[in-house]
Amino acid sequence: MDQIRITGGQPLHGTISISGAKNAALPLMAACLLSDKPLHLSNVPDLADIATMVELLENHGVTVEQKPAEDLGLELTLTADGTLNPTAPYDIVRKMRASVLVLGPLLARLGEAIVSLPGGCAIGTRPIDLHLSALEQMGAVIELKEGYVYAKAPEGLKGATIRFPFVSVGATENLLMAAAMADGTTILENAAREPEISDLADCLVSMGADIHGIGTECLVIKGISNFKEATYSVIPDRIEAGTYAVAAAITGGSLELTNMRSDHLGAVIEALTRAGVNCANGGASLSVSHPTGHCSGFDVVSQPYPGFPTDMQAQFMALMATADGASLITETIFENRFMHVPELARMSADITVHGGSAMVRGHGSLKGAEVMATDLRASVCLVLAALAAEGETVINRVYHLDRGYEQLEEKLRAVGAKIERVSD
Ligand code: EPZ
Repeated sequence: MDQIRITGGQPLHGTISISGAKNAALPLMAACLLSDKPLHLSNVPDLADIATMVELLENHGVTVEQKPAEDLGLELTLTADGTLNPTAPYDIVRKMRASVLVLGPLLARLGEAIVSLPGGCAIGTRPIDLHLSALEQMGAVIELKEGYVYAKAPEGLKGATIRFPFVSVGATENLLMAAAMADGTTILENAAREPEISDLADCLVSMGADIHGIGTECLVIKGISNFKEATYSVIPDRIEAGTYAVAAAITGGSLELTNMRSDHLGAVIEALTRAGVNCANGGASLSVSHPTGHCSGFDVVSQPYPGFPTDMQAQFMALMATADGASLITETIFENRFMHVPELARMSADITVHGGSAMVRGHGSLKGAEVMATDLRASVCLVLAALAAEGETVINRVYHLDRGYEQLEEKLRAVGAKIERVSD
């Protein structure tokens, strides 16, 4: 398996262009199943998870044309106009939990779906009970058998008023797509408000869907039966942008992040600013600098959008490990999202975990070590820590990184990082 070797201590300086958002592109790709007309997507990040979604959609019978974009990412044309296969098999779904996002559109389009249960992952059991109970409220008949969800809607899905007991990004996305083609009006209450949800809703509207309340916790969807050809550009990846903002801060450098949306990073910019980092908001760009290289400890609690994103928790912990003073980092979304703590401890970080909170006692510098990546965001947290650490760090199992960061080594090397990938 590949390793990444980093020699730390270099302040990063320069410009990084942000790629399209993985967590927006995946549901947008699944939405093509609703329509028999082409869906043209641009600014799609060139990532392993995108390739897995292409593999899954082709398994369903979707025709996928793809070509590299001029600078970063891919352009995709997805057409689901033939006979569609309702089954999402375990050997693909187990590679990527987001595969479950084909459930809603398949059920709406075909009246049936047979989707492997995704199984858990490193950060939690991650059930899909909210997806299933909401689809049942729309008239679906659902049976769990031999690790698969067997869902049928022989009379078609019917509009319903659905109130989620707690915020779920994936459940909101699945139900948004299902409701777009249901008979009647669906109201989704306590819906997730992440920018990726609004991106999916805006794309569905460009395909002809009738959706109101976009960006709020109450979405009103009036189902339609025929969609039109559409062209849509994926929003920039707010988590990638936040990750590189931390890279500037943790190395005591200054980076200009371009092709991004500062308005999607409010809570992250606020936390960095409160920790003493200079953030100049340029709308489609963000300048981040931290000449002294040492932040002040600052507490954060992960929350649904617009709160501090759970996908930035690990990265922020790496920064706080080098800060002056203590920080309390509380994870409220996933039950096991501190897998990066023992690895950071190998780099001499001083962190104590109590249940869902981690007390980080920042001190001057981290020390390079051999460490292991466990999940996507824990992997990049170790990259950030390595960029600031004294000496060399070797990160194992870097395939996790390839799922969510396009051209990570190239982007970091271009702004001064001593980073290389070693294939064994
Ligand atoms: C999405 O996951 C993202 N993935 C995650 O990003 C992100 O961390 C998460 O939303 C929260 O923002 C994609 O968009 C592909 P949830 P999702 O449903 O939809 C529980 C990354 O690093 N839950 O909002 O799976 C669940 O276990 C990934 O890019 C249920 O109990 O997240 C979790 O504790 C990691 N039952 C919480 O709710 C359900 O039916 C939030 O999950 C659904 C969820």
